[in-house]
Amino acid sequence: MTADYDTLAKTIAALTEGETDPIALMATVTCEVHHADDRFDWTGFYRVTEPGVLKIGPYQGGHGCLVIPFSRGVCGAAARTGEVQLVPDVDAFDGHIACASSTRSELVLPVRDGAGRIIAVFDIDSDQPDAFTQADADALSQILAQVFGRI
Ligand code: SME
Repeated sequence: MTADYDTLAKTIAALTEGETDPIALMATVTCEVHHADDRFDWTGFYRVTEPGVLKIGPYQGGHGCLVIPFSRGVCGAAARTGEVQLVPDVDAFDGHIACASSTRSELVLPVRDGAGRIIAVFDIDSDQPDAFTQADADALSQILAQVFGRI
């Protein structure tokens, strides 16, 4: 099963209507995205809890590392640069943090609030190599903007 992003965006919009609590929003987005696509083996948020530090937020899948500094990993790179990180082969990414040894590819998107501040990153890991496309990145970025632009 591959995500139908139009349906996913509509479902998430309906479920989260009127909600502005970031954790409630993150938990709902994580659940809906994770179960929408067989490629997604770990799906979750790392929140910016102090300058330069990401801490685990709502997620689905096996356990994730609790703390990631901006200087480390694919998640750190997304938070530091503010740019989407599409990594077809995690072994070729310098500094990749292996929370699960089964992970082969990864997509990490910065999450911005309505003022444009980066409040978190959204990390999706796949056990399949080269699992993610630019279309995934674009559709998911749009969903994140729609949900977190309100807070
Ligand atoms: N692989 C990520 C760390 C988070 S986990 O995979 C859940 C990274 O390199 O930032």
